[in-house]
Amino acid sequence: MSTDRPGLALITGASSGIGREFALQLGREGCDLIVAGRRRERLQDLVERLPEVAVRPLVGDLGAQGGLAAIVAACAGEPLDLLVNNAGVSHYMSFLDLPPEKLTEVLQVKVVAPTSLAHAAAPGMVARGGGAIVNVAGMLAFGGAAPLGPAPGRAADVSTLADLVAFSQALHEEFGARGLRVQALCPGIVATEFHERQGMDLSAFPRMSAHEVVAASLKGLRLEEVVCAPGVPRRQLLDDVFAANLAAFGEQSPELAPRYR
Ligand SMILES: NC(=O)c1ccc[n+]([C@@H]2O[C@H](COP(=O)([O-])OP(=O)(O)OC[C@H]3O[C@@H](n4cnc5c(N)ncnc54)[C@H](OP(=O)(O)O)[C@@H]3O)[C@@H](O)[C@H]2O)c1
Repeated sequence: MSTDRPGLALITGASSGIGREFALQLGREGCDLIVAGRRRERLQDLVERLPEVAVRPLVGDLGAQGGLAAIVAACAGEPLDLLVNNAGVSHYMSFLDLPPEKLTEVLQVKVVAPTSLAHAAAPGMVARGGGAIVNVAGMLAFGGAAPLGPAPGRAADVSTLADLVAFSQALHEEFGARGLRVQALCPGIVATEFHERQGMDLSAFPRMSAHEVVAASLKGLRLEEVVCAPGVPRRQLLDDVFAANLAAFGEQSPELAPRYR
């Protein structure tokens, strides 16, 4: 087993965009795949495109209890070298207008599912001496305080991405020394169906290709980057953010800060 050349990977949201690209790049490197998503025919297309490796489709809705349970069972039962928590959905709209079922969907697919799948996969990886988990977040994890621009609202979406970054960092702290590599992948805008599926046309914006995002993630795993930001040229900026986080965390004390007295 090697995380540089994984033998078996499970990818959620493999039916399009970034997840499909993970499947293609890993499959072409000789990695067997379990590919998850709701669109069966898209997953079947991967089986046909990657005849050199074993590709097993797993059809299910991560937002539904049964769908999630089936993928959790695969994560717990299969000797995975790599789990890619990639499936995602967003509903950019004012928080006041966000219907409860759409809020639940975002939280379920972007927080409950990746956390549960990592929870199922990690014990086996640690017991086998190593493995890797990629949690696909996004640069908006760092954009909570950014001006809204043309978006009508994105509070729920931003919160899930920030959750995935903190989750990945904490998992790395807990298990990095035991061979588990964890990465929060933080792309900016990527040319996939993601925005189109919610009726937004971002084709006029400069966008990175899914191919480049995935190539960066796989290289980032080899570089042991816990946060991989394919579109940020100055790595130091990210290191400064995390150093500032730790400085604020470390400076806290039980004494009331003078400005609140
Ligand atoms: N595109 C961007 O600009 C961008 C930027 C930053 C981060 N991201 C993140 O990148 C990840 C991949 O997105 P993408 O850009 O590749 O978009 P995409 O082409 O729309 O792919 C999303 C994938 O998630 C799956 N999915 C969505 N809801 C699901 C559910 N309830 N159950 C199971 N699978 C579900 C979809 O499969 P089915 O429909 O077949 O189920 C699809 O394969 C997402 O997590 C997104 O948050 C994207």
